[in-house]
Amino acid sequence: MSAPRKLWIKTYGCQMNVYDSERMSSALAAAGYEQGASPEDADLVILNTCHIREKAAEKVYSDLGRLRPLRAAKEAAGGRMQIAVAGCVAQAEGAEILRRQPMVDLVVGPQAYHRLPAMAERAARGDGPQIDTDFPEEDKFDHLPQAPKARRAPAAFLTVQEGCDKFCAFCVVPYTRGAEVSRPAARILSEARELVDRGVVEITLLGQNVNAWHGEGPGGRAWGLGDLVRALAEIEGLARIRYTTSHPNDMDDGLIAAHAEVPKLMPYLHLPVQAGSDRILKAMNRRHTAADYLRLVARIRAARPDIALSGDFIVGFPGETEADFEATLTLVREVGYASAFSFKYSARPGTPAADAASQVPEPVKAERLARLQSLLGEQQAAFQAGCVGREMPVLIEKPGRHAGQMVGRSPWLQAVHLAADAGLLGRIVPVAIEGVGTNSLAGRLVA
Ligand code: 5AD
Ligand code: SF4
Repeated sequence: MSAPRKLWIKTYGCQMNVYDSERMSSALAAAGYEQGASPEDADLVILNTCHIREKAAEKVYSDLGRLRPLRAAKEAAGGRMQIAVAGCVAQAEGAEILRRQPMVDLVVGPQAYHRLPAMAERAARGDGPQIDTDFPEEDKFDHLPQAPKARRAPAAFLTVQEGCDKFCAFCVVPYTRGAEVSRPAARILSEARELVDRGVVEITLLGQNVNAWHGEGPGGRAWGLGDLVRALAEIEGLARIRYTTSHPNDMDDGLIAAHAEVPKLMPYLHLPVQAGSDRILKAMNRRHTAADYLRLVARIRAARPDIALSGDFIVGFPGETEADFEATLTLVREVGYASAFSFKYSARPGTPAADAASQVPEPVKAERLARLQSLLGEQQAAFQAGCVGREMPVLIEKPGRHAGQMVGRSPWLQAVHLAADAGLLGRIVPVAIEGVGTNSLAGRLVA
């Protein structure tokens, strides 16, 4: 028997990509691949790329450049190294990748990962470089092993939805990930049960536009994400449910009510608004105003008063004036975020905003980003400081860096460091919070 082939994946970007990398690993494990320790060690190297912001493609090409000597050394020693580019850069650039970097063997978009083992096989046979960036008619969820079988972490991700129909004017996702597709409720529930049987106690439902998820419940009743959350909450042994990422316009009444009525639904919500000026929101094609968003936040907080919010923001969208930017600061002050991600606008080729004449100069973007981040940083620090002196349930997720230390997760998604026995892995324990870092808390196990 030949030795198992080795696989090495570099993952860029979002949680969806982390999950996709695990699914590619599972699909390739079924074809006889094992995880390698390094790219040097691997027969197949996959760059699972992200295209959402900034010079993503350039980063990929420079990483490919670094792989070139490794591959040459391996081939000189009689070995082999196939190189695959996956993810959104693969989807967006397609054959262009082969033109610029002919040593690439496989270019595979997010809709075609289940065909990866066959593609690798064909390339290895000498059939030449393989490209697959089609959006298939078939349901790719049918083909991919869903959950990675080997992992035993107490917290898991579960994809319930992929793609996006919103077409925000700055965003590549609708082009690289395609139209919104929801997985059927029954499949999600059975996979969740499987995860729980394997020791998972916290599930985060994933989707580019997760709260647009829709499906059918028993008797053909139309279900929204709130119904799915309620059904998941019935699973014994599942203690915590989260979901990400949401669009404000898809926060329907049923989902907001679930925040009030389902204790397992954690009090933390990532709800990007992007900007606070109605003029810019309109240009971004967000289809809501700042006031709509504030009203929505008020309703969510009425349903679950201890909910912590996080958001995404873009500064320097084409046409953004100082007054527009100040409207973003005003909105941030009104909402009060526990954490947030903020970015300078970067033109993504092929999106409507990329060709706008009124691009904001780089130094202006940088200056606005610094002001926004300083405000968001103050809010985050205030939220963190407010946790000190409180006692909260913490899910113990993994060993810490020091002996005798474990790391867990608060209901508000903060990492919590504490002295604890490894036997507590997967348990939810009461912890008294005694100190804070930027993103993490330190605490003591309460007897
Ligand atoms: N420029 C800057 N930020 C962007 N995002 C998406 N596209 C762009 C872009 N072209 C940000 C948005 C989104 C997050 C995932 O990335 O804030 O919510
Ligand atoms: Fe992109 Fe999110 Fe807008 Fe969809 S809703 S286009 S993923 S920013």
